[in-house]
Amino acid sequence: MRVDADEAARILRAGGIVAVPTETVYGLAAVASDPVAVRRVFAAKGRPVDHPLIVHLASAADLGDWAATVPPAAAALAAAFWPGPLTLVLPRQAGVPDEVTGGLDTVGLRVPAHPLTRALIAATGGLAAPSANRFGRVSPTEAAHVSAELGPALPVLDGGPCAVGVESTIVDLAGPAPALLRPGGVPVEAIEAVLGAPLGVGVRRAPGGLPSHYAPRTALLLSSDVEADAAAARARGLRVAVLPAPSDPAQHARGLYAALRALDAEGVDLLVAGVAAEAGLGRAVNDRLRRAAHGSGRP
Ligand code: TXA
Ligand code: MG
Repeated sequence: MRVDADEAARILRAGGIVAVPTETVYGLAAVASDPVAVRRVFAAKGRPVDHPLIVHLASAADLGDWAATVPPAAAALAAAFWPGPLTLVLPRQAGVPDEVTGGLDTVGLRVPAHPLTRALIAATGGLAAPSANRFGRVSPTEAAHVSAELGPALPVLDGGPCAVGVESTIVDLAGPAPALLRPGGVPVEAIEAVLGAPLGVGVRRAPGGLPSHYAPRTALLLSSDVEADAAAARARGLRVAVLPAPSDPAQHARGLYAALRALDAEGVDLLVAGVAAEAGLGRAVNDRLRRAAHGSGRP
């Protein structure tokens, strides 16, 4: 069900959940300071309750309300990339509900770039929101995808197709040195340029850290030679759809989930997807395709 911004704010303030647009993917939002509302998000997604949610803020000025400490690296990355597709994991303020952090002593924070959602957050306060898909499935990048995933009764604020198309990059700043938890919409190279040092490899928390995630129903093969692998599969009698390797990874990222959804609906036996060069947005594209391949069926 489509709702306008005023109705979205009313539902959220009353403890309800609303799917909201961000520049990365649609999120399923609840007021982050309301543990009962946050539990409704987990129930709607079918998501295990110990998986932490990202809190979306209206501005970097609100960081101190959620994070117990804001190290210089966090301030520098926020100044460089917010609003935008970067999530910072920081030590949490004592008052952040356990429902949001999955009981961790850290909290994931970001300022999203979509104007509708930033205005909404200014009206409601910080919004906890995972991607608005059923647990383990492909993330939605259009309002219609949300309704297909979570049913027509769920209120959706339609902000058009997402401009980035893959989730935020997550950087852990709560450990001894900055570490990458998930490649995403801000290239790792750009983050390292601001930090003046390479990012470590973080220990990823579920669910984005589960190997099987972002999964279409159709079997998916990640390939460095799409034509040869597709031909070999067709020779085995399989019906095959192809997602060619990207020439422009940022553009590919924008359409990736919509393409997976559409190809999945074709009812073929195998999707053969080309790998991107492992740089810039290509890292996020490859990460999602690897997880999708792992979680998909077998032809
Ligand atoms: O672009 C995005 O990040 C989208 C939009 C809606 O903002 N959100 C999103 O949320 O992708 P979700 O829940 O699908 O993925 C969030 C990831 C999960 O892998 C979760 O484990 C991790 O962020 N995360 C959240 N809080 C964390 C924390 N305190 N420590 C480590 N990882 C955390
Ligand atoms: Mg997700």
